[in-house]
Formats: sequence, structure tokens, C-alpha cells
Amino acid sequence: MGQALRDFIAKMESERPDEVLHIHDEIDPKYEVSGLMLEAERHGHYPLFLFDHIKGFDIPVVTGVISHRKRFADALGVPLAQATQTFMQRSVNRFAPTEIDKAPFHANVQIGSQVDLTKLPILTHFPVDPAPYITAAMVVTRDPKSGTDTLGYHRCMLKGKNRLGISLHSRRRVWEYQLRAEELKQDLPAAICIGLHPIHSLASMALLPYDESKFELIGGLFGEPMEVARCATIDLLVPAWTEIVLEGRILSSVREPEGPFSEFTGYASSRSTQNVFLVEAVSYRDEPLYQSICSGFAGDHNTVMGFTREVDVIEAVRRTVPNVKAVHVPISGCGIFHCYISIKKTAEGQPQQAIYAAFGIDHGCKLVIVVDDDVDVFNEKDVLWSLSTRMQGDRSIMVMPRSMGVILDPSTTEQGVTTKVGIDSTRPLGPYAQRLELSVDTRAKAVILWEKVKTEMKG
Ligand SMILES: Cc1cc2nc3c(=O)[nH]c(=O)nc-3n(C[C@H](O)[C@H](O)[C@H](O)COP(=O)(O)O)c2cc1C
Repeated sequence: MGQALRDFIAKMESERPDEVLHIHDEIDPKYEVSGLMLEAERHGHYPLFLFDHIKGFDIPVVTGVISHRKRFADALGVPLAQATQTFMQRSVNRFAPTEIDKAPFHANVQIGSQVDLTKLPILTHFPVDPAPYITAAMVVTRDPKSGTDTLGYHRCMLKGKNRLGISLHSRRRVWEYQLRAEELKQDLPAAICIGLHPIHSLASMALLPYDESKFELIGGLFGEPMEVARCATIDLLVPAWTEIVLEGRILSSVREPEGPFSEFTGYASSRSTQNVFLVEAVSYRDEPLYQSICSGFAGDHNTVMGFTREVDVIEAVRRTVPNVKAVHVPISGCGIFHCYISIKKTAEGQPQQAIYAAFGIDHGCKLVIVVDDDVDVFNEKDVLWSLSTRMQGDRSIMVMPRSMGVILDPSTTEQGVTTKVGIDSTRPLGPYAQRLELSVDTRAKAVILWEKVKTEMKG
């Protein structure tokens, strides 16, 4: 399997040409890309967009690479229905990365005073954004304590030719590593990789124990070792097939205003860790592609968070509840806040175990609804129906105050403290009202009849 973004685009062009849209018109870097993407999404379309001509720049822009779950199935090379299972199976067989000496991004290297970030087609997404933002900035860095590498997306605000504001508000590894470096009074060497195969996006969101390598998980998902290559000025290995690499340091003890930014919650967020990234080298492939991710409440941002989290939750809940059917972390909860879990309950208290497990693995989750296995967690109407007929406020709801939440959720305190709610929407064991059902035969016949009626109606 090719590990480059352009390999993935070529696969999409050949296998799903109707999902790749080439935009040849001149497009303004301010707002027009997000405007078009959100309009397409409003109509239920999630194409991969290739913009040839962003006004003022000669580097093409690709967006929508990770805007829909089916992209992850394509990235894994399986049908959508098998994607979650495949992720889980492959993540067991991890591979250490392989270093290659000559990576395509070594072709062009600009160091020190040659660095000029304003030459990149960095987009401005919403009117609230005070500057252009790199939204597909995959930050690679290393724990100064354990030596474990990590990678994760972190928004970067363009502040100057070699200066970026960066926010580490999700308070996961890069945030922790930066604090550890700061304790040692050191800057944190880091590289921003722009333009990656979606397998990297998937693995970057995984909640692994802090000393486990996401690089090895990427290898597992590819089914072969992830290829890495050395940076020019810092001692870091980054995905070898990256389009563009910005190398530098997250400064110790420096904080500067950053934001507000059009966040995935659908709000302008001024909450930020206000870090600063000094760029000391820029490397890129010949004829590079610049990847952007639509900001705001958009599939391009939120789908990857939800998809990967479903895998984490299934694995956590399965340790304590025997019959987990499915897990959905829906876009309506911004891909992080809500989680629906269906189980075949065999003992009272299992829904509560599932709730504890889901909250235990991700501080971002603030509402868990556990339903029976006859409820389709991917159909929110079905989930809400189950609440309407199986939940009782005095016995079904667990409230957990003073928990760690997501700073960008405007309903939390400034420190991101939140109250979590778990809802047991399962029927009590034993006799219960019978859900209405038609037989398989009747439903099969109805499908045929409906197709016939539809054709007649059209005629
Ligand atoms: C498109 C996108 C943008 C993101 N932006 C940020 C961000 O600006 N700051 C942040 O802390 N987390 C952000 N996240 C979440 C982190 O990327 C995610 O928590 C990741 O697992 C963190 O990696 P780390 O554990 O290596 O820090 C973003 C996620 C996505 C999908």
C-alpha cells in the first residue's frame, strides 16, 4: 500500500472518481474553501477537493481527505462495514517504523533566513479567524522523558515568516511533552507535517498508553512498517512520504495571544494554550500538495475523531461487558462529546460498567447513552426513541461532576472542568413491552414492492 497522500488521491481518482472534485476556478484563500465545503456538506456531499488555483499561490490545495467515514474504509482498503473491525484487527500487529535515507521531502530544503511561511497557501477559514491557520498541521515530537514519539493535529496560526501560534488544548501527548520539556527549561523540538495519507490521521487520534508508539500503530494499520525519514535540522523522524515539513521548536516559557479560531464545536474559541512554534527549516516534495482541513463544525475535522474513538471505546468496554454490539461517536456531538453504545445486557449494572469504561478512556466524552442491541446506534432517531421509551430520569441517569473535559467546550469552566452524564437506556431484564416488528419475509417483500411503486411514481 502506498503511504503517501498522493497515492491515496490516485486510488480515489481510479476507484471513486465521482468523489474527487477538481476545482479549476480561481479561489480566494479567505473563506471560499470552507464556504464551498460546508455548502457541499449541507447537501450531504463529502468529496475530496483539489483546488488548482488558490489566488496568490502556486501550490495546489487538497481538502476533504478525511471528511467522511468511507475515506477511512478506503484508506484501510475494506468496505465501510468492515472498517472498525479491520482497524481493531490490524492494530494488534504493530510494526516498528523503518527509516529511509532519501525521502521525497528532502528534495527541497530551506533553512534559517530562507524560511518564508507566507509562500504556503495557508487558508483563512472563517471571518472570526484573525489570521490564516494551518489546520492539517500534524505535529510530530518526542517525549523528553521516555523518548516516545507522537503525532497529532494542532492548529497553527500564521504570525510571521517563521513564527506560528500553536494551541495544545486537547491536553494529550504534545501538551504533556511540552510541559515536561519546560520543566527541564528546554524548547521542544517538533516538526509539522502537512499532507499525509489518512492512515496517519486515524492513528494520530488513537488513545494509546503514553509510552506506546503511534508510529507502530500506523505500521499496523498499513500492514507494513511506516516509513520515516530524518529532519534536516532536528533529531526527529517524520513520515517519509509527507508533502511538506516545517521543522522547529515549541518555545519554553513563551506564551502569546493566539486565536480566536473557528473551532470544531461550531463556535469561535479564544481558549488556547498560547504556545509559540518557531520554524527553522521548511522541506517539501517537488510539486508539493498543501493539505487543509475545513475548520468549524465540519465532517473534515470531526469524523476522524469520532471514528477512532469508537475503536477505543469498543476495546475498553469489551474488557468489562461481555456483549458489546456497536459504538457510535456521532458528528452531532462534534465527534468527541457524545457516545452511543449498544449491548446485549445479561446482568443489571452492565450499562453502568460501559459508561465508566467509556468515560475512563477519554476525557473528551461527556455524554454516554447505553442502549439495547435492537437499537441502531448509527441511527440517532432510533437512539432518541429508545430514550423516550426506556429511560426514567430517577433511575437511568448518572451524573459525574468535576471531571476533566475539553477546554474548547464553551459550557465547561475556563479550566475545562465539566460534568459528565451517563444514561442507561436499556430495558430492565425480564418482561418488558414488546417492540413492534415485522417478519423478515414481510420486510423483504416490502422492499421489492416499494421499488416497483417508486418506478411507477416516476413514470
Ligand atoms: C483536524 C483536527 C484539528 C485538531 N486541532 C487541535 C488543536 O489545535 N489543538 C489540540 O490540542 N488538539 C487538536 N486536535 C486533537 C488532537 O489532534 C488529538 O487529541 C491528538 O490525539 C493529539 O495528539 P497527541 O496526543 O500526540 O498530542 C485536532 C484534531 C483534529 C482531527
